[in-house]
Amino acid sequence: MEERETPDDLDERWRTDLAGWGIPAEIAAAARSDPWEHSPARFGERTDRALAVPEGPTLLRAAEALPPGGSVLDVGAGTGAASLPLARLGGLIAVDTSAAMLAELEVRAGRLGVPVRPVLGRWPDVAGETPPADVAVAAHVVYNVPDLSAFLAALTAHARHRVVLELTHRHPMSWLSPLWAHFHGLVRPTRPTADDVAALARRLGYGVRQEERPAPLPRFPSLEAMAESACRRLCLDPARAEEVVAAAVELDMWPVLRDRWVTLWWDTA
Ligand SMILES: C[S@@+](CC[C@H](N)C(=O)[O-])C[C@H]1O[C@@H](n2cnc3c(N)ncnc32)[C@H](O)[C@@H]1O
Repeated sequence: MEERETPDDLDERWRTDLAGWGIPAEIAAAARSDPWEHSPARFGERTDRALAVPEGPTLLRAAEALPPGGSVLDVGAGTGAASLPLARLGGLIAVDTSAAMLAELEVRAGRLGVPVRPVLGRWPDVAGETPPADVAVAAHVVYNVPDLSAFLAALTAHARHRVVLELTHRHPMSWLSPLWAHFHGLVRPTRPTADDVAALARRLGYGVRQEERPAPLPRFPSLEAMAESACRRLCLDPARAEEVVAAAVELDMWPVLRDRWVTLWWDTA
């Protein structure tokens, strides 16, 4: 069945499936803070760990294609976890919609002596003002991207040697689904998945290869940290954290199961 689907069909299905993750307006109206927000401090810790112990298939696949002193384009770079640990990195082009993330990345790049060109904006909208690089990476970004075909095409056009993606196998908010049902009576979707990204990339003509592993670290260091995050994501008053802890224990959600992390990569030349 999938064989006969065009890239446009797959792109449209991705967009529709992703839209299913929207938060109903009446629930979002009660939010005390942005339920989708990513914390630069938390991602900074992630980058610091990756710098201390560089490992994993995403770094390996990027490193394989990176000439000595070569350049990397990191889209949705955050604080640089998927690019700064690369040993032979000669220069980094870092694209992100968040100025706070880019500021944290620049501090770390400065310490490492890696020249950075930050590009503030949304990929692929800012692709026209972004130079190409030897290797392009995008880690934990695609579930934020409705226009996936355009995102992947622009990434591929900017990579002289290789594109490397890292993503969770299922939507990164999937761990919260039992709590959405418990607190809001809302059934969350089970699609899209990393398989949909791989299928679309193949349909676009890329020679996609794939590797999977369990997430290298637990999602949260403590029940309290989980509850604080869950309150924000579920648009609940932070004062309900104890209720979230009780529900998570009752629903057998603690410790939170580790996601599967998928690395997809393809060569461009
Ligand atoms: C979950 S974080 C991942 C950060 C980093 N790549 C990592 O693996 O630690 C996603 C980042 O992508 C950025 N982002 C999301 N969609 C984007 C887009 N279309 N273009 C550029 N940046 C985007 C967010 O601001 C955020 O910093």
